[in-house]
Amino acid sequence: MTTPIRIGALISGTGSNLDAIMAACESGGINGRVVFAGADNPSAAGLKKAENRGIPTFVVDYSGIIRSYKADPDPARLPADFNEADIRTRQHLAGDSDRLRTFLQTRAIAEAALLEQMAACPFDLLVLAGFMRNLTPYFIDRVNTEENRPRIMNIHPALLPAFAGTDGYGDTFRYGCRIGGCTVHFIDYGEDSGPIIGQRCFAIKEGDTLETVKKKGLALEWELYPECIRLFAENRLQTVKMTWTLPDGKVTQRNVVRIVD
Ligand code: GAR
Repeated sequence: MTTPIRIGALISGTGSNLDAIMAACESGGINGRVVFAGADNPSAAGLKKAENRGIPTFVVDYSGIIRSYKADPDPARLPADFNEADIRTRQHLAGDSDRLRTFLQTRAIAEAALLEQMAACPFDLLVLAGFMRNLTPYFIDRVNTEENRPRIMNIHPALLPAFAGTDGYGDTFRYGCRIGGCTVHFIDYGEDSGPIIGQRCFAIKEGDTLETVKKKGLALEWELYPECIRLFAENRLQTVKMTWTLPDGKVTQRNVVRIVD
């Protein structure tokens, strides 16, 4: 039996995935426990779900931070260890523009506040459970400190790499897809682009609405996320860099997850 893992969670809303994860820890489905739940806004209803189970919670008010920095962009407010040039070369989120500067600066302030809160509760795995903020290399590199050992997971409401972004089920439904699904993946420097750990899919039939699609998808998320976390807790996820030669002779590389016995 391996040591139980400590799971930190970040949320933005209802927290039904967080609920499923906490329940799986309690029932023994995951050999671990949730050690904190943090949110990017004070009205995230999922915080209450964690508090009801006696799990520490915190809020880093992203909107407030962004508003206040835009009103007074004093560089002294940036974290002392923020190196914008370095982060620019690594992030895959946006192009090279002034908007990117504001984005990286405001996120670094918010992410430094997240890291400070999280420092009080050491964790082995950080799960994003409906956390609607992109994380930048400033944060990711301070959590992923061991090479080839990613430890930030996300659940996305679509079959990646299709429909990255903030409205996976909506984008799937409006496109007219016959199949929808959800994906759990490790976070990398891009948007919903990291190595895939697990996926589930469901049929979209005549008569389905966006509401029924979301309902079918969420029911699968509540199974898939605990299952992927269980594999992490059992130390069964390996990230390996694969090299492929494409039909046109070009060589491409990608980190993929292998599930080992
Ligand atoms: C879930 O559908 C999750 O896949 C999605 O937000 C919802 C959160 O529900 N996440 C994203 O879109 C991330 N980009 P919950 O708060 O009830 O777990």
